[in-house]
Amino acid sequence: MALLDILEYPDPRLRNRAEPITVFDAVLVKRVKDMFETMYAAPGIGLAATQVNVHQRLLVMDVSQDRSAPMVFINPEILERREVGVMEEGCLSVPGYFDDVERAQYVKVRAQDQHGITFERELSGLEAVCLQHEMDHLDGKLFVDYLSLLKRDRVRRKLEKERKDRASRGVSPATTADKAAVGVER
Ligand code: NI
Repeated sequence: MALLDILEYPDPRLRNRAEPITVFDAVLVKRVKDMFETMYAAPGIGLAATQVNVHQRLLVMDVSQDRSAPMVFINPEILERREVGVMEEGCLSVPGYFDDVERAQYVKVRAQDQHGITFERELSGLEAVCLQHEMDHLDGKLFVDYLSLLKRDRVRRKLEKERKDRASRGVSPATTADKAAVGVER
């Protein structure tokens, strides 16, 4: 297992559209393990492959407090969404920033597991919101895209400044505390 580097906004690679997964092999199983390890270490509650610079339609989630509910979604598609509501979100790729986003609070999803088996699942509340947030990543979309241009610009400038400060102090991003502060991916 290995900890993977998480791309941060406004890295242009976060804008890539991920490709469907067609090969279910040991490489994929290892990637899923590494993504869980990276997500738990961050710590976060969801991680899309796009965020670790792998442009395949794969995401992992675990919204439990005790790592007891790991979920893997490969090639996910939403069959049904209902009950629009607002929840505060954060993102491991936008460290230290949280804001309200409106999304369906109930979704029915079809996806494959890491062995290629198709399943359907109904999710509500935080799980539903987290899934939609992670699926956005696979299409090159970030939660800050739902905010006003003004807010988004402010976030981008703040993150760029922090990155510069870290570089001038010689601190690697992985060792800074801001990764710990996330909402939806907490
Ligand atoms: Ni995110």
